[in-house]
Amino acid sequence: MNTVKYSLMVNLGSKSYPIYIQAELLEHLGLLVQQTGLGPNVLLVTNPTVGGYYLVPAQRSLEAAGLRVSVATVPDGEEYKSLEWASRLYDAALEARLDRRSPVVALGGGVIGDLAGFVAATYLRGVPLIQIPTTLLAQVDSSVGGKVAVNHPRGKNLIGAFHQPALVLIDPVLLRTLSQREYIAGMAEVIKYGVIWDGDFFAYLEQEIARALQLDTEVITRVITRCCSIKAKIVEQDEREYGVRTLLNLGHTVGHAIEAITGYQVYRHGEAVAIGMVVAGLLAVDLGWWEKSDCERLNQLLTRTGLPMTIPGIDPNRLLELMQHDKKVLNGTLRWVLPRKLGEAGVVSQLPDDLVLRSLRRIVLDH
Ligand code: NAD
Ligand code: GLY
Repeated sequence: MNTVKYSLMVNLGSKSYPIYIQAELLEHLGLLVQQTGLGPNVLLVTNPTVGGYYLVPAQRSLEAAGLRVSVATVPDGEEYKSLEWASRLYDAALEARLDRRSPVVALGGGVIGDLAGFVAATYLRGVPLIQIPTTLLAQVDSSVGGKVAVNHPRGKNLIGAFHQPALVLIDPVLLRTLSQREYIAGMAEVIKYGVIWDGDFFAYLEQEIARALQLDTEVITRVITRCCSIKAKIVEQDEREYGVRTLLNLGHTVGHAIEAITGYQVYRHGEAVAIGMVVAGLLAVDLGWWEKSDCERLNQLLTRTGLPMTIPGIDPNRLLELMQHDKKVLNGTLRWVLPRKLGEAGVVSQLPDDLVLRSLRRIVLDH
């Protein structure tokens, strides 16, 4: 293969970039970086889990294209998405003699993408970033749109930037080594796109969820392509999340609180978002925004996907307090993304506590 055609373009003027989505694409990484005119040095950032599978082919492909590759390995885990590890990566970038044309390549899930992306955004006031997402969540969400960040002891993603990648390379075959739990968690973000943006896509998921869960290459490539295309459209309209990009936070208000209250140890992000989407659906029905039958379709699809829809043993009042406290700390108001129909959502602020608590009680067991 001498040329590879991109699947989608994110149109952001001088910051536009292509997304390549294709099985077995990793072997063409070097060619794509070369085509983009980047180099000659590359800092490849990964973790031992992902690196154990894909570092050798990635490095081989880059070197075959004449690029000089330095590898930085970050331990596996959300706790390493930190300023301390960003600082270690600055050292690695200096040692690799990265200049303004030399890219940081993020090979991993959302943690590696966000951390390496943050380093790319800040080192030398910004160097090119290449995203090679390896989880479903990263392939459909975090690698596209330019949000990069590290965590602060007082909250997730509090230190960050908008730094669009120079290119995104998505190889669905890489998902074959991902644990089933991580894969299913990523499906929550996939379903989210159907609810907020595209009712036909939601119906397609209802029809093909079994094949998607079996990682059927044709289905999963189509699913990833549709998700990236929706995300690209949203980011093109609202790169900095002043408007329509907020819709991507469906399920996240409650989801973040569930993750925080359980110390980020119990639920994967997508699992917490799935429960959050159930709450958003119940609220939307109670408010008369949404048909009960659509809410039931969402809950059925989440169930068939194997996502959790309830949580045991958590006080709904504490969940609500945590959501309100977080927003106060950040000087914001509590805003809810709620579905209006399958394929359309809206934002509402300051819902009455008793209404929210009623929905929260329905997803909390033992209370
Ligand atoms: P992750 O990066 O921690 O990956 C999950 C696990 O899967 C890790 O243990 C990882 O080593 C392993 N893994 C990754 N790819 C693999 C593969 N192909 N085969 C085998 N194992 C593999 O988690 P995630 O869910 O991808 O990302 C979560 C992070 O993404 C959070 O920090 C979150 O804040 C961030 N995020 C960012 C955005 C954004 O827009 N920037 C959006 C959503 C989430
Ligand atoms: N993951 C939400 C966003 O990119 O805006």
